[in-house]
Amino acid sequence: MTKGSEWWRSAVIYQIYPRSFADGMGADGIGDLPGITERLPALVELGVDAVWLSPFFTSPQKDAGYDVANYCDVDPLFGTLDDFDRMQAKVHELGLRLIVDLVPNHTSDQHAWFQQALATPEGSPERDHYMFREGRGPGGTQPPNNWESVFGGPAWTRLVRSDGTPGQWYLHLFDSSQPDLNWQSEWVREQFRDILRFWLDRGVDGFRVDVAHGLMKAPGLPDYTPPADGGSMGGGVSYEPAIHDHAEDPTPPYWAQDTVHEIYRDWHRLLEQYPGERVLCAEAWVEPLTKLARWVRPDEMQQAFNFSYLETPWSGPTMRAIIDDSIAAFSGVGAPSTWVLSNHDVVRHASRLALTAANAQGAGIGPNSPGLPDRALGLKRARAATSLMLALPGSAYVYQGEELGLPEVIDLPDSARQDPTWFRTNHERYGRDGCRVPIPWEAKAPSYGFSSGSASWLPQPAYWAEYARDVQRGVPGSTLELYKLALALRQQHGLGVGELQWLDGYNDSVVAFENSGITVLANTGATEVPLPKGTILLASGAVETTLPGDTTVWLQR
Ligand code: NOJ
Repeated sequence: MTKGSEWWRSAVIYQIYPRSFADGMGADGIGDLPGITERLPALVELGVDAVWLSPFFTSPQKDAGYDVANYCDVDPLFGTLDDFDRMQAKVHELGLRLIVDLVPNHTSDQHAWFQQALATPEGSPERDHYMFREGRGPGGTQPPNNWESVFGGPAWTRLVRSDGTPGQWYLHLFDSSQPDLNWQSEWVREQFRDILRFWLDRGVDGFRVDVAHGLMKAPGLPDYTPPADGGSMGGGVSYEPAIHDHAEDPTPPYWAQDTVHEIYRDWHRLLEQYPGERVLCAEAWVEPLTKLARWVRPDEMQQAFNFSYLETPWSGPTMRAIIDDSIAAFSGVGAPSTWVLSNHDVVRHASRLALTAANAQGAGIGPNSPGLPDRALGLKRARAATSLMLALPGSAYVYQGEELGLPEVIDLPDSARQDPTWFRTNHERYGRDGCRVPIPWEAKAPSYGFSSGSASWLPQPAYWAEYARDVQRGVPGSTLELYKLALALRQQHGLGVGELQWLDGYNDSVVAFENSGITVLANTGATEVPLPKGTILLASGAVETTLPGDTTVWLQR
């Protein structure tokens, strides 16, 4: 294989969150597939290689589409299969690739499979498609084990039989409307092969696999109490290299079971039967990275999101350590490193990097959160962090709106919040709505050009105008132009397929390396440092003869 011949090894993949990208259908304030089709040229102009779409499938939308009721159709909110075909044709015509989301850990409780399971007696083959169990204690009144839902509260819900008496319990690692499938079942496996084929036959270039660490559970479903600092995904997901070695943590019985890998080997073989280079990308919150790398062994998936990188604090030593660990772990199995700073589940990095109090993944921030960020500092750091990320070899993910420098929306009215986390924790955790607010396209249009009317499923803040794409386009120094420049230079100099060499002679706060003839210096500290001689190709902030704090430059020497 020629280096870089597999597109996904160095691709920059743009995440579209359909309900918040562009509303092209009926001005209902919810983004949709026709809206995406219309706005695709903006992504070509930005310079990305591929798009990944969060779920647009038939769904009651209890978890914004991650509760799928029909995997092979489009929810009327987002359009039709014809709209999908039109959108995909446009994506391909523009030279981009298309990745769709696959949600195999659970279905919606409205899915026909779950409804059939409910309609058939305990112990029936239909019940075996999900994780039904008897309760513990007299009368089975206690849940089968002590597992907690990622969104808060117990991971089990008890059914009521048709005669009104209490029945079995079913497992849901997420909301009670998202029952977990039983992946021991060959029937379930066959259904998902069909779903993969359905979308591959339609022409998609790959799948982002939701909760790819969760499908298999430990035999006997034993009790488990996660370590106190385990992060909100339920154990072992925060990156604190100096403090805590997660390699020592026990594996939770609901995550990262060895038996999950045979499923991905099977899918790998299925994808190989298709022409083109189709890919699987794991959403697996697994640490340490050497363990995550098992998801991208040569006969499994092509990519796994590097959440350890996303969670790394903005400091020289931790950034260098995570970059080294990532490249070592992924290249150890022949896979590319991936890099990501934001997505629809975490506080946007233009806010997160300036938080002054810990905030677990998924907890979100709201008006009463401690350590709220300074907006200007957050943006400065985000621009520096992105400029560092896009200079790294491997593949990078960009979440819609980060190219505009969008911050997390902190002051959403409580009445507008929709994330199940908010409800399942009795408003203790704000959840993820603040990073999902529809993005601004035009400063002066109603709903900032998101929709043709003024509706927007989450309210857009008044200050959204200053971030709108049209006021940044063509303006030197804007965040949009910074992303465009970084992506163009990355492409031109082959940074994605390059190799990183650390540079010595800088203080601890400076992340300094060379990749493909470009010198990259990221100053995570507050003190200015001298700049080496050379032509500045890119600067994330104002730079003269020295490199200020929270600033990154790319130089050609
Ligand atoms: C991960 C998805 O990214 C998140 O949005 C969703 O709530 C959970 N998986 C459950 O599907």
